[in-house]
Amino acid sequence: MRTTLAIIKPDAVQSGKAGKVLAHLEQSGFTVRALRMTRLDEAAAAAFYEVHRERPFYASLVKFMTSGPAIPVVLEADGAVRRLREVIGATDPAEAAPGTVRKLYAESKERNAIHASDSDENAAREIAFFFARREVLGNGG
Ligand code: CMP
Repeated sequence: MRTTLAIIKPDAVQSGKAGKVLAHLEQSGFTVRALRMTRLDEAAAAAFYEVHRERPFYASLVKFMTSGPAIPVVLEADGAVRRLREVIGATDPAEAAPGTVRKLYAESKERNAIHASDSDENAAREIAFFFARREVLGNGG
């Protein structure tokens, strides 16, 4: 699969870094195939992060992800899922490699600027969560 989902998270949007994050992704070789700004409600954030429901940070994560606008983006590149995870760096910015999105723009392990799908299967699920097929350029959109 050549596509994956990123979400520019509310911390990055709120602090005016969305454009810089998007430029970083484009400069890293990704093509934007779909993009919108949205504010997740509690039900949507809870559903999106359902896999983390039992984790101690779940309630806080849902609160953060509903705290302001976020920007889901469908990105295309060879080996998109793995490549994007390399480009964004480790979950915790303190552990992220130099030059990665999270090292440059994240505030903390929770307020970490960007989400990326972790497998082709989840990428397909997460793209469908935000976008109709016709909204993804190349799918007839
Ligand atoms: P993300 O890649 O979107 O996947 C799950 C999110 O939960 C993660 O980025 C962080 O925003 C958040 N997260 C993961 N681990 C922790 C943690 N230990 N404490 C707080 N938030 C976390």
